[in-house]
Amino acid sequence: MATDDEVLASDREFTWTNSDFSRIKALIYKHAGISLHDGKHAMVYSRISRRLRATGHSSFRDYLDWLEQTGGAEWQEFVNALTTNLTSFFREGHHFTELERMVRAGGPRDWKIWCSAASTGEEPYSIAMTMAEVLGINGQFRVWSSDIDTKVLQTAARGVYKLESMKNVSTAQLQKFFLKGKGNSAGMARVKPELQKHVEFFTLNLIEEGWPLKEQFDIVFCRNVMIYFDAATQRQILARIHRVMKPQGTLFVGHSENFSDARTLFTLRGKTVYEKV
Ligand SMILES: C[S@@+](CC[C@H](N)C(=O)[O-])C[C@H]1O[C@@H](n2cnc3c(N)ncnc32)[C@H](O)[C@@H]1O
Repeated sequence: MATDDEVLASDREFTWTNSDFSRIKALIYKHAGISLHDGKHAMVYSRISRRLRATGHSSFRDYLDWLEQTGGAEWQEFVNALTTNLTSFFREGHHFTELERMVRAGGPRDWKIWCSAASTGEEPYSIAMTMAEVLGINGQFRVWSSDIDTKVLQTAARGVYKLESMKNVSTAQLQKFFLKGKGNSAGMARVKPELQKHVEFFTLNLIEEGWPLKEQFDIVFCRNVMIYFDAATQRQILARIHRVMKPQGTLFVGHSENFSDARTLFTLRGKTVYEKV
């Protein structure tokens, strides 16, 4: 069995040991709730080596010592480096069909939606497009959109995407909600201000107490983020989500997330769609 200080890779730019991995694993768990399993060595090495280069450290041990003693703003960079931000427009399309059905059935009112792991923005803009198609572009709805990762939130707030990543956005939606780039921006599309005004972005760490939310939400999207947390952390987050939702509010979760054992909080209403108890 490998000891903590055994060198696992010395042919790489930086020496890599089990102890480096264990320290990073403990730190990201503490700061973001993310549970890294042993299959993640290569990913962690590659992502944190970039931070060593950016901060001028020549070993993981030096970088981690410095981070723990004087990290400051580097903590955010460390977290940003270790999050996985995969997302796309209208991902898990059945959720948007259900959202549309619900909003048509509920009719015009001040719809409040929280997108709690918004990543680079494709998810909240897909929600906003769906809402605008039912209620009109000046309809009453707002999509509060948060993530722990400040870098992806900057991309989200910019609202500029490659057309090739927008295959699930229909031609009609592209015309209605985006401006196509020309010249140097050819191949890109920018979210129109009329849609963007319904969406706001802010940092929120799901594992921290005291979420900066003042609203009670009709609908919460918490998709493909709970998979990174252990069962105890998931339970705590579900209990907090429950507290910020209106009675009978709807919770959308990711395709591989199952909270059927949280029966006192949420009841399953459809495929990965829960209703607040
Ligand atoms: C795989 S993406 C999912 C994005 C989107 N919800 C979707 O389903 O397409 C997971 C997102 O969760 C965010 N995340 C990870 N840990 C978090 C935490 N503790 N609090 C808030 N967001 C977190 C990551 O930064 C990342 O953007």
